[in-house]
Amino acid sequence: MSRPVAAAAAGPDAAAGPGAAVDPVIRVAGLTKRYGGLVAVDAVSFSVRRGEVFGILGPNGAGKTTILEMIEGLRPPDGGTIEVDGLPVWPDPRDVKRRIGVQLQATALFDLLKLHEIIYIFGSCYGLYRSRAECAELLERVGLGDKTTGYANELSGGQQQRLSIALALVNDPVVTFLDEPTTGLDPRARRAVWDVIGEVNRDGKTVVLTTHYMEEAQRLCDRVAIMDFGRIMALDAPRVLINRLGAMVTIHFSLSGTVPLDAICDLDGVASCRAEAGAGFAVVATDAQAAVVSLLSLARERDLAVANLDVRGADLEDVFLSMTGHRLSEEEDDGHETAPRKRRAFGFGDGR
Ligand SMILES: Nc1ncnc2c1ncn2[C@@H]1O[C@H](COP(=O)(O)OP(=O)(O)OP(=O)(O)O)[C@@H](O)[C@H]1O
Ligand SMILES: [Mg+2]
Repeated sequence: MSRPVAAAAAGPDAAAGPGAAVDPVIRVAGLTKRYGGLVAVDAVSFSVRRGEVFGILGPNGAGKTTILEMIEGLRPPDGGTIEVDGLPVWPDPRDVKRRIGVQLQATALFDLLKLHEIIYIFGSCYGLYRSRAECAELLERVGLGDKTTGYANELSGGQQQRLSIALALVNDPVVTFLDEPTTGLDPRARRAVWDVIGEVNRDGKTVVLTTHYMEEAQRLCDRVAIMDFGRIMALDAPRVLINRLGAMVTIHFSLSGTVPLDAICDLDGVASCRAEAGAGFAVVATDAQAAVVSLLSLARERDLAVANLDVRGADLEDVFLSMTGHRLSEEEDDGHETAPRKRRAFGFGDGR
């Protein structure tokens, strides 16, 4: 169930986010893309600061790839303007393409070429004829130094992602775009890719990445734009977005018998609630103590046991939920009922 609860009516300057005016390397204003009747990207505006890791966080179909591809000069917009490093991307994106590095959401690699040969070929596309040692050095940077004479089809999924990041760095780009660099990877491989992205950023490179993993955004990104249905719902440093929710906590629990969702939502200190699998509930509380006390007395009145009680601080998932009325993680958005919010005070409809 999807029920937007917060205004997304931030103007271009507000959407750029605090600090965005500090040496922006990308400026996007009013960017729009339609596919037939579908508005995939809806008048989006933001800036990316030089040297930051900027994340676009959103669920499948939010418009993340479409935005990236318009900035990368691969997909013409229907409206709005984009500048990269002071140059307009459209109508002729060739100059910008020379200055950026791109990892597409899916990369086809040459299975029958050695890794250092693939690096060489990609470099030559930019007129850069790297020596074998230079190709090996780039592979070393992404942790593939021992694979330079191996073949792409011998790499694990995580190693292939690191190779495609190396390919996005081959022209020493001003900005590197990574479209879902860790999707499909196991936690260990994901962390290895995070390390590589962190290294690239420490080398002074601006990185723009998309993800639907809130932990990834929280961990890697200096600032994050939260997207849903083609619009930016919020943009700021992850910690600022989380803090702006106030002293909210999320409480998960299950009950030994049936209780209507409304009764849970009416507990003291509860801002919103939803039913989860297996007689479980998740509530977002502005006052954790009041919520737990009133939950326990509700359980006592109805002669029910409370189990699996888990109280935790807010994270980007909660920011997303408060902005959009639905969860970010599709695997967790299992169609269970979400109750309407009792208040909007913890949303972002404050004119930002
Ligand atoms: N070439 C196309 N023709 C028609 N519709 C498209 C096209 N490309 C994307 N769309 C639609 O535009 C919307 C945004 O797609 P986009 O690929 O930008 O989303 P995304 O946020 O990158 O999603 P994902 O997380 O699944 O990669 C979706 O509804 C998608 O179906
Ligand atoms: Mg995508």
